[in-house]
Amino acid sequence: MGSLGSAMPTSGTSSPFFRRRSPRLSRTYNFGGVDCASMQPRLYFVGKVLLAVLFTAFCMSALRQTSSLAGPSKFATHERGVTHVLVTGGAGFIGSHAALRLLEDGHRVTILDNLSRGNMGAVEQLQALFPEPGRLQFVYGDLGDSKRVNEIFEQNAIDAVMHFAAIAYVSESMADPLRYYHNITFNTLTVLEAMKTHGVKKLIYSSTCATYGEPEKMPITENTPQVPINPYGKAKKMSEDLIKDFATTADLSVMILRYFNVIGSDPKGRLGEAPRPELRKHARISGACFDAAAGIIPGIQVRGQDYNTSDGTCIRDYIHVTDLVDAHVKALDKAEMGKVSIYNVGTGKGSSVKEFVEACRFATGVNVTVTMLDRRPGDYAEVYSDPSKIQRELNWSAQHLDLRESLADAWRWRKRHPDGYSVAMI
Ligand SMILES: NC(=O)c1ccc[n+]([C@@H]2O[C@H](COP(=O)([O-])OP(=O)(O)OC[C@H]3O[C@@H](n4cnc5c(N)ncnc54)[C@H](O)[C@@H]3O)[C@@H](O)[C@H]2O)c1
Repeated sequence: MGSLGSAMPTSGTSSPFFRRRSPRLSRTYNFGGVDCASMQPRLYFVGKVLLAVLFTAFCMSALRQTSSLAGPSKFATHERGVTHVLVTGGAGFIGSHAALRLLEDGHRVTILDNLSRGNMGAVEQLQALFPEPGRLQFVYGDLGDSKRVNEIFEQNAIDAVMHFAAIAYVSESMADPLRYYHNITFNTLTVLEAMKTHGVKKLIYSSTCATYGEPEKMPITENTPQVPINPYGKAKKMSEDLIKDFATTADLSVMILRYFNVIGSDPKGRLGEAPRPELRKHARISGACFDAAAGIIPGIQVRGQDYNTSDGTCIRDYIHVTDLVDAHVKALDKAEMGKVSIYNVGTGKGSSVKEFVEACRFATGVNVTVTMLDRRPGDYAEVYSDPSKIQRELNWSAQHLDLRESLADAWRWRKRHPDGYSVAMI
């Protein structure tokens, strides 16, 4: 797959260098009762050794020539005007959209992902769009493996890190908290240590409104106290704290972006959201609505219709992934040396679950069935952002404010890829 997958594990047995040799015949000759190993095979052997030496010398000189002609890998050298961004979790939903935008803007991208939740199909799609050498490389690796992470920093001239990689479902985090602290907090520590060792100074970090917990006042500003109520939010807040503490000692340029609920997909239909089927039980509302519209599940269950909101259902702030990615690019551009800046990334507008379902019905053209259930413990009535700080300081504002259009973008991709990235229907 072109320059992709250079670090994907390969099976040693299939390599031509591991072919089994056939057993040699013994070369002894009999002359008049004298059993003598003839001089001929010895000469033959010496000849072969000489040939091997000559051949090795030839190969080495050819190799030296090839590498001097090709020059060192573009990924291993800094280039003026080109930012080489390490995108952790770049095979996932948001990371792949971010990689697309960075590549469109002329940057160099290294995606690091363990494919535990992401899709190689998304990376292949990016590679097909940007096949030129030195634009995009995929490195298979787990952020929990600090040796591997350090190797990647060692072998590549990285200018900035966008750290998306994480597992990210609230309900899963309640069932398996240690996994979340390991995957989110411990792995962020590994990334920071590698950045420190290799002198990489710029970091854009994916945080979440889940770090705020259940704020008393809406809208949520960056100064709203962070009191997370589940392991996912707590692990993300701990990562933020690690980053802030480290930044005070290391002259880092850091942007922490706290996302609200991310929806939509590339409006041109090049990428989409394709969570693994086994994650369906944790599905976010858009995934559940689409599964219902596609007939995979009979309908959706809405929990709670007696909240103190306009129609009794919960209110959330839905941000289109393209707008979110735009915030990352602006953050990358404006990150200041020695400064940690924190921004909410949301629309500033809340939509109720009922409104969301109506928009989903409109976008899919399917009258999705809804079952109303009692409230789910731990759900809060209203969450929406105050995005005025990011508007003021980064000149960013959400452009996709119509839920129906945002969901239509995602549904178009979903309809053409009913099995995610594995099959495309034209
Ligand atoms: N989707 C949302 O609504 C939302 C909201 C707020 C914050 N976020 C944050 O945005 C980031 C991206 O979320 P997403 O929705 O794209 O999730 P995703 O699951 O689609 O992508 C995450 C990617 O990280 C990779 N990954 C996970 N653990 C890894 C590890 N140990 N080593 C290497 N790669 C690993 C996965 O394989 C996957 O490709 C996460 O940090 C998440 O917490 C998402």
